[in-house]
Amino acid sequence: MLLLSAATLLLILTLSSPIKVGKCPKDCSCDGAKLSAVCVGKNLTEIPTVDETQLLDLRGNHFHYIPALSFPGTVQVVSLHLESCRIREIEGGAFQGMNHLLYLYLSDNNLTLLDPKIFAGIQNLTYLHLEGNQLTQFPGSALSLVPNLFVLHLERNNISKLEPSGLLSSVTPTLRELYLSNNSISVITRGALSSASIGSLYLDSNQLIEVPTSALTGAPNLEELSLSQNPILRVERKAFQPLSQSLKRLYMDQMGMEKISQDALQDLGSVLRILTVRGNRLKELPDLRPLTSLEGVDLRDNPLLCSCALLPLRRWMETVRFEVSATCGNPPDLRGQQVRDADVFTSCLENASMNQKGS
Ligand SMILES: *[C@@H]1O[C@H](CO)[C@@H](O)[C@H](O)[C@H]1NC(C)=O
Ligand SMILES: *[C@@H]1O[C@H](CO)[C@@H](O)[C@H](O)[C@H]1NC(C)=O
Ligand SMILES: *[C@@H]1O[C@H](CO)[C@@H](O)[C@H](O)[C@H]1NC(C)=O
Ligand SMILES: *[C@@H]1O[C@H](CO)[C@@H](O)[C@H](O)[C@H]1NC(C)=O
Ligand SMILES: *[C@@H]1O[C@H](CO)[C@@H](O)[C@H](O)[C@H]1NC(C)=O
Ligand SMILES: *[C@@H]1O[C@H](CO)[C@@H](O)[C@H](O)[C@H]1NC(C)=O
Repeated sequence: MLLLSAATLLLILTLSSPIKVGKCPKDCSCDGAKLSAVCVGKNLTEIPTVDETQLLDLRGNHFHYIPALSFPGTVQVVSLHLESCRIREIEGGAFQGMNHLLYLYLSDNNLTLLDPKIFAGIQNLTYLHLEGNQLTQFPGSALSLVPNLFVLHLERNNISKLEPSGLLSSVTPTLRELYLSNNSISVITRGALSSASIGSLYLDSNQLIEVPTSALTGAPNLEELSLSQNPILRVERKAFQPLSQSLKRLYMDQMGMEKISQDALQDLGSVLRILTVRGNRLKELPDLRPLTSLEGVDLRDNPLLCSCALLPLRRWMETVRFEVSATCGNPPDLRGQQVRDADVFTSCLENASMNQKGS
């Protein structure tokens, strides 16, 4: 319901608000019905005065600094594009008056921190793009002015810590999707990611050295979690226990991971649908049989040791309805062979179990 496309929203607003005719600013092109004003890549250094438009696209200009009250007469704007405008600073109250703003794109600028009042007057903002800036902190106090935020993009910044406890629940209580890929996060305080509404969390390409289990307590609706490309070498038992009722998709690719503890995934037995552990250093795998809801698993590019210890995996692969791609890394004469084709298993005892390898 909240995921209406920009076009749908424009249509709704078009049908529900009378259209007045304003004039199109120099350097911009506007459509006849005054639904959009597009002023892309014009080397503008000041925000043009626009009225009665619903989409204002100012991408690729050179604004550098955006003072308070920079958008007079734009009460109808639903979507504002300010990507790649070399913006270093935005003064508090810059967007004041944009009462209908739902989408704000500030991607690929040079923001290092956000004024606590930057979002004053746009309390219904729903989608916020801040990826590709140089933020060093999660902009907690600024976000407290946009309590209806649903999707937040912060990829490619330089955020190193997520704190304090209760960060999400206090400043963005309705946030559903949080994108933090490609930052430098190494610390996440216990409870920082607690939130009743968070559903998708992208933490890939950061500096985490362990699964942030205690940070995820109190995120009972988290369905999707990416930890790919963090230097997490081991996944310990109970690592995902706080997510045992919700986690459907778990991505742990290219982490240099050497070991997944035998009972690390069992807590997700009834919910997990997608698991990817591609491109790690796993020689063995935990027993996947308890994961009864799995619909897809990616085990590729791991140096699996094809011996009788892997027999349960092999048997399991024969019983599941989806294709499982896994190749042997060892012993040397089996390297590169598909696990499903390796004949090493024919001589194994049927009841051999990976459990006997311990965890
Ligand atoms: C913007 O400025 C650059 C460099 O001065 C110039 O090459 C380019 O043609 C300008 N673009 C427009 C649309 O004026
Ligand atoms: C903001 O949202 C609230 C509730 O969702 C609504 O009542 C209000 O009219 C909205 N304000 C504007 C300016 O759209
Ligand atoms: C400003 O941001 C742009 C886009 O992200 C980037 O290419 C550029 O290097 C940045 N400039 C400085 C001085 O950091
Ligand atoms: C990231 O932030 C750290 C300080 O926290 C700083 O030393 C480093 O230069 C920053 N890196 C970039 C690419 O801005
Ligand atoms: C993160 O950075 C890597 C390497 O620079 C890049 O390949 C990847 O597309 C980036 N991901 C995101 C979400 O920005
Ligand atoms: C397999 O089962 C047989 C008989 O039940 C038992 O003797 C044998 O020790 C078991 N082997 C393993 C590896 O558990």
